[in-house]
Amino acid sequence: MNASGTGGPSELTPRLSMRGIVKRFPGTLANDHAELTVLPGETHCLLGENGAGKSTLMKILAGSLQPDEGEIRLDGEPVRLTSPQAGMAAGISVIYQELDLVPDLTVAQNLLLGRAPARGPVIRRGRRAELAREAIDRVGGDFPVNAVVRELPIAAQQLTAIARALTTQARVIVMDEPSATLGENDLRKVFDVIRSLTAEGRSVIYISHRMDEVMEIGDRATVMRDGRSVSVHDLARATPDELVAAMIGESRELVRPTDRPRPEGPALLEIRRVHRPGLIDVRDIEVRPGEVAGLAGLGGAGRTTLLSALFGDTGASVSVRLDGAEPRLSSPAAAVRAGFALVPENRKEQGLMPGLSVARNAAVTALGRPPWLAPHTTGRRRATPALSGLGVKYSSPDQPVGKLSGGNQQKVVLAKWIAKGGLRVLLLDEPTRGLDVGAKADLYRQVRHLADQGVAVLLASSELNELTANADRVWVLHEGRNVACYDPRTTDEATIAHTVITGETPATKAAS
Ligand SMILES: Nc1ncnc2c1ncn2[C@@H]1O[C@H](COP(=O)(O)OP(=O)(O)OP(=O)(O)O)[C@@H](O)[C@H]1O
Ligand SMILES: [Mg+2]
Repeated sequence: MNASGTGGPSELTPRLSMRGIVKRFPGTLANDHAELTVLPGETHCLLGENGAGKSTLMKILAGSLQPDEGEIRLDGEPVRLTSPQAGMAAGISVIYQELDLVPDLTVAQNLLLGRAPARGPVIRRGRRAELAREAIDRVGGDFPVNAVVRELPIAAQQLTAIARALTTQARVIVMDEPSATLGENDLRKVFDVIRSLTAEGRSVIYISHRMDEVMEIGDRATVMRDGRSVSVHDLARATPDELVAAMIGESRELVRPTDRPRPEGPALLEIRRVHRPGLIDVRDIEVRPGEVAGLAGLGGAGRTTLLSALFGDTGASVSVRLDGAEPRLSSPAAAVRAGFALVPENRKEQGLMPGLSVARNAAVTALGRPPWLAPHTTGRRRATPALSGLGVKYSSPDQPVGKLSGGNQQKVVLAKWIAKGGLRVLLLDEPTRGLDVGAKADLYRQVRHLADQGVAVLLASSELNELTANADRVWVLHEGRNVACYDPRTTDEATIAHTVITGETPATKAAS
């Protein structure tokens, strides 16, 4: 420790200071005199429950939303960020929670959109590809730069957005929940990028709901609640419990270990084989009625491929029995008719219609017909209990779902399936990413409630502690194969983690 404090952060002019920021939306005060101070070379975490106003504050910083009141200073100078162009010119680069890439363009085109190297009117494609390759390499991406963005996995899209933000020489880089779409390996690469950015004296604002990440990468944190900044913490001294308490006003338990007896008896869902050459070859996974079966594995282990195959993705050959019969799973529509539901990892592409209202989005599966044809009142009646059970924060059921905060959109995707009757198999792919601590607990309560009605649940998650706390059995996928099945009540987390990483099993510990 340097007691003289020379060069201490308090002696520096802040890189960024946002003062008294107010932003009103119809029915919502999203920012209520919010304050944020970020120092040069600092990683500053922005924390708060779903809907606390984090993304709104960052959109104001980017110049893509105009505040009703407030002042912004960069390196001491007042700035007026009246457009995204003005934000970029001032050296602000934001990677949005809902990625804003152009899906039909390639990675290289997206990276250098409007800034492609050209000779006269002619774009120098070779040079552009080179520049793009460098940028993608820098974030550790190993996908081709001529790939069309739409066809890439969500994690690769996230890396593309980060790489694009780095191609501008920004002095403040904002990352709005990158870990909601990145697996552990990719996140490691992003952390390396963050460390090299701050070592160059640039400032990073990092938004996440995961305390372990915040403690690892952050220097300081500002906690927001109901649009206000409630506290600032030095992360070298703060504890995760303290931060959570500041966010929700009390310390709430995140997950509770399964305490009920494991469902016994014959399986409802028997996955005999799901095979897609080069990707997965999964055999003999069974899920009993009322059982929550966890799927553990690293990014790329095959969890998403397995779930989408069960939900009618025709790329894989699927041999499945449901209650002794062979269901037709030739398309998502057929899977829905057979009683399957999927909450996908990429909710933006597959889960929601952002322009339609909250009530209609939530009711679409319950009604079994396109939401624009459904009578208004029916949709609302069906959807409301599920929305409130998950604590969705919205100003009116008629509000377009695209206007909700990221975490609240995720809750609507879940509510959609919870509102549906006749559900037999619920497939959940990373359902808690983007949810705050309280919302996670609400979600698992709802999932358990569905299971208790006899639904078979397959729950894929990278959060091993959530699996061991909520699943009756944990199946481990490694490089496309299921290598083990554990009972989390008799196997410790370290053993399961070892199998997740290495694919090796202490055979004696496998559950029956
Ligand atoms: N364009 C908009 N129109 C109307 N309301 C909006 C709009 N954008 C955000 N809101 C509302 O403002 C509030 C704050 O939302 P914001 O997206 O800033 O939350 P957040 O802290 O980023 O949450 P999350 O952790 O879920 O991403 C929410 O109640 C949200 O519904
Ligand atoms: Mg947000």
